[in-house]
Amino acid sequence: MVLASAPGKCILFGEHAVVYGQPAVAVAIDARVRVIIEKSQSGWLIDGMQFDKQRHPHLDAMLKRMWINDGGHPLSIKIESDLFGAAGLGSSAAICSAVAAALLHSRGTPAEELPLPGIATTAHLAEAEAQGGRASPIDTSTSTLGGVVMVSDKKEGQANWQYTRDLRIDGVRRTWEVHSVDLPPSLSEASLVIGFSGRPGPTSQMVAKVATLLSNHPEKMEDIERIGNVTRAGATALSLGNLQAVGIAMNECHRLLQGLGVSDEDLDRMVDAALPSSLGAKLTGAGGGGCMIALTTEPRRTAEAIELVGGRTMVSRLGASGVCIENK
Ligand code: PMV
Repeated sequence: MVLASAPGKCILFGEHAVVYGQPAVAVAIDARVRVIIEKSQSGWLIDGMQFDKQRHPHLDAMLKRMWINDGGHPLSIKIESDLFGAAGLGSSAAICSAVAAALLHSRGTPAEELPLPGIATTAHLAEAEAQGGRASPIDTSTSTLGGVVMVSDKKEGQANWQYTRDLRIDGVRRTWEVHSVDLPPSLSEASLVIGFSGRPGPTSQMVAKVATLLSNHPEKMEDIERIGNVTRAGATALSLGNLQAVGIAMNECHRLLQGLGVSDEDLDRMVDAALPSSLGAKLTGAGGGGCMIALTTEPRRTAEAIELVGGRTMVSRLGASGVCIENK
C-alpha cells in the first residue's frame, strides 16, 4: 500500500493574462489531496466502486501513461481531499501529481528521489488529455513542486527557473517556462484566507468572455499587460518578504480583473469584507464564481468577515510542501 499526497493551489497573480503570454504566480496551499493505492484482486476500483473512466478522466489518462500501458496489474485507489470541490483549487492536478508519485514509489523509486519535473510533466500531459488538449502547467507544477511557482512564456529574472513545459494545442506548440519563487521566513507572519462562493468557477466560459472582450475592445490588451507587470512586481515583493507590497499588488490585480468582467457580486462582496483586516484581497482563478483570497496577519478576523457575507473559508500558510509519499 502506498499513500501519497499533493497540495491544492491558488493563483496569487496573473490569471487570464497568462492565457495571453503574461506570467502567473500560484501558491501551494495547506489543503491536500491524499491518494492510497494498493493491489486489487477485484479489478480496477476507485473508492471501493468499479473504476468509471468517464467520471475520472484525469485518473484514466494518468494510469494509461504510467501503469496500464506498461502491463501494471489492477489497483484499488482511494482518494481523500481537503479541498472545496470544483472551486478552482487545482484538485484534479493534485490527484494526478499524487497518483504519479504513488505509482513511481510502488515500482521502487525512493520517496526522497521522486523526479519532480517528470511527475509535473506527466501530470500536465494527463490533465491536458483529460481536458481536450487545453491545460496550462500552473496547477500541476504547483502541486508537484509546492511553495510558490511562476509560469511564463519566457524565463523571468524574479524567480528560479526549474524546467520548460510544452504542449501542442490545436496544432500549435505552446511553451511555458516554470520557475519557483524563494520565500523568506518573514512571509510566515501572514496567512492566506480562501473564501469560496459556493459556486464553481466556469473556467472555459470566463476565458471565452475575456477573449470576446479583447476582440471587441482591443485597447483592453493594455490591462492584460498591466496584469503582467503587477504579477512581476508581486513576485519580487514575495521574494523580498514585503507583505505590504504583495497586498497592494493583489488589490491592483483584482481591480484589473474587475475591468475584464470576470469578478462578480459574490466575489466582490467577499473581497470588500476581507479588506479592512487584510493586506490585500482578490479573486483567484477564473472568476465568475469559485474563490477569492486575502493576505492577512489576522486570519480568524478575516475568515469571520468573509463568512458573514456568505463565503466558506479555509486558512493556509503561503507555500505548502509539494507532492510526497506519506508512508515511507
Ligand atoms: O480557476 P482556475 O484555477 O482553473 O484558473 C484559471 C486560470 C485562467 O488564467 C483563467 C485560465 C488558464 O488556463 O490559465
